[in-house]
Amino acid sequence: MPGIAPLACATNSTHTYDPQSRLGLGQVLASLSYALDLTEGQPEGHAARSCVIGMQIAEQLDMPSADRAALYYALLLKDAGCSSNAAKMAYLFGADDRKLKHDLKTVDWQRAGNNLRFMRAQVAPTGTALEKLLKMGAMLLQGPSGAKKLVQTRCERGATIVRDLGFPEASAQAVLDLDEHWNGHGHPRGLRGEEISLLGRICGLAQTVEVFFTKLGPQAALEMAQARSGQWFDPQLVQALLAVTRHGRLWGILNAADPAAAAAHYEPEDSSFVADEHRLDAVARAFAAVVDAKSPWTYRHSTRVSEIAVGMATRMGFDPLRLRRLQRTALLHDVGKLGVSNLVLDKPGKLTDDEFTAMKKHPEFSEAILTGVLPFADQAMIAGAHHERLDGRGYYRGIPSAELPAEARILMVADVYEALTAARPYREAVPQEKVIEMLRRDMGWQACPTAVEALQSWLAGTELATRVDDQLAAMDRLLDDLGSPVCTTC
Ligand SMILES: [Fe+2]
Ligand SMILES: [Fe+2]
Repeated sequence: MPGIAPLACATNSTHTYDPQSRLGLGQVLASLSYALDLTEGQPEGHAARSCVIGMQIAEQLDMPSADRAALYYALLLKDAGCSSNAAKMAYLFGADDRKLKHDLKTVDWQRAGNNLRFMRAQVAPTGTALEKLLKMGAMLLQGPSGAKKLVQTRCERGATIVRDLGFPEASAQAVLDLDEHWNGHGHPRGLRGEEISLLGRICGLAQTVEVFFTKLGPQAALEMAQARSGQWFDPQLVQALLAVTRHGRLWGILNAADPAAAAAHYEPEDSSFVADEHRLDAVARAFAAVVDAKSPWTYRHSTRVSEIAVGMATRMGFDPLRLRRLQRTALLHDVGKLGVSNLVLDKPGKLTDDEFTAMKKHPEFSEAILTGVLPFADQAMIAGAHHERLDGRGYYRGIPSAELPAEARILMVADVYEALTAARPYREAVPQEKVIEMLRRDMGWQACPTAVEALQSWLAGTELATRVDDQLAAMDRLLDDLGSPVCTTC
């Protein structure tokens, strides 16, 4: 199972967070962008390095400060919508969505024959010849509109998240235009030349240069940019890139051990986007939405776990500060799932040992990612402990009960309750009463009795129901959409 190497980002946080420090929001997003890199199947730091490339091009163009700020946040969040088409890609190709997304980034799919070659290599890699043929046939039947729809889903979702975070419309537009090409053959709208926003053109060039640089080196990155100048990319931007690489230190900066810190350096000093408490809440909500979009089976898991955990903690007498921290942690507890293939997350049956090993990595990924994000670092251990058990037989560490703080115990119970009361591809939703019964039976050796009591007490006084019928209806709609045949040229 690819992509389960330990994350290095956990080592990034070497300072203690001071809420009065007027930390730039870009520093937070640069660190969190590692989660988006996971979904894209890219090495850690892809978005942060793309940001460095794009911002150097902006400097070369002498771009006004306001535009530079809009570009900066667009570059860091360019992949915010990337999780929204992961399930569909995995389903259509019968392959690991992260590998697909990774490999697709190096293919010039405007060139005749490349699409078919890519499809033949990627479709149902472990399937029979007949399975491959059927998958390819289904995708070819759909034609280019299928690719357009996949890109559209991703770009529109990403732009919505950028807007929700309060960034300028120019940032959202850049994310919408990310996959448009200078010659009009891009997606989703087939815009041509200067119809594509300047910031979108820079983002598109920067991300592709980063992929080639990291995979094949600087020479290959420059050759790719020149070869696609006038086709994928604005020729003037390619010239600006060449000027940057001739006179600047771009390649050296891209090799920095801490790409997030390198990107944070480019946050405009006069930016008004300070990571205050409200913006940190918004960031946690936004990334919870990214996580929940990864699989139709967990499309509101993080937000519901947060709602339940805060409700339980209220009953346990938490003060407002502790509640706020717990809310963010609950929203982000599964951020590591962005590093797990949808072939595993959405599998309609028992996982193999390898698949279960891959699945069990996600709390570790969550902890590693959050450890690298300064304002969230002190909660990273809690997020990483959400699959632990009081008897020490949970994962990923097997932490004994004495070392599990109240926040972790709450999160464990909220997570189990939400997961069991929602449907999964391999089972139906379990009724609320039955879940409570199961949790009470497990009290003392798996689940914390105090937390279970708090859950029961909160459920008794809240409007939150399992809403199983609502969930199943929404699930039906999502799965209907997932099942439509589509082309592979995305
Ligand atoms: Fe989890
Ligand atoms: Fe979870």
